[in-house]
Amino acid sequence: MAKIVMVIGSPRKKSNSEIIADKIAEGAKANGYEIVKYKINDLESARGCQGCGACKKAGVCVQNDGIKPMLEDIKASEGVILATPEYFGQPTAQFRLAQDRMFSFVDGTFTPFFPAGKKCAVVVTCGTGYDGAKAMADQIEGVMAGFFKFQPLGKIVVKDAMAPGCVADDKGVMDEALAIGKKF
Ligand SMILES: Cc1cc2nc3c(=O)[nH]c(=O)nc-3n(C[C@H](O)[C@H](O)[C@H](O)COP(=O)(O)O)c2cc1C
Repeated sequence: MAKIVMVIGSPRKKSNSEIIADKIAEGAKANGYEIVKYKINDLESARGCQGCGACKKAGVCVQNDGIKPMLEDIKASEGVILATPEYFGQPTAQFRLAQDRMFSFVDGTFTPFFPAGKKCAVVVTCGTGYDGAKAMADQIEGVMAGFFKFQPLGKIVVKDAMAPGCVADDKGVMDEALAIGKKF
């Protein structure tokens, strides 16, 4: 079955960004996709990119930690759902760690090791820093489209998402997430 891979950057239980990503996944699942979820904080081992450049020859990241299966699943997938909260104007450390490891998707000329056209959806939640969160979502989408030739399906940026789980009550956001998921 064709896969969609979720990359969850929040460490929280009842994470709002994860709840929105789950709703997107529900839409994708309804279209027949298998969903594979990686909550980076829960992986037993997860290291950042070492900048060693070995991937440029090997075609894969040579670090065999908990992130490696995520990278291989994304390569074999038809798309990704990327979700992170805004922490001090940036994605979480957990998200950035996963994002940097995607450097192994391209060769030395920045040509991806897989065909163009995988799909991506992006979720960013925040407290009051909506403009920063929006810029982050644009940046995350821009990396996927620019470096890895993904096709963006949509972004969801939600503010006032401090209380764990509070977005679940926001019908507008949940409907938007489901609609993006059904584009997979
Ligand atoms: C360490 C930390 C830093 C944060 N920094 C910001 C910030 O710069 N701007 C903002 O609007 N919210 C900030 N927040 C609030 C989170 O972005 C917000 O609660 C988010 O919705 C949490 O997502 P989650 O429920 O998926 O974990 C911060 C929260 C934490 C714990």
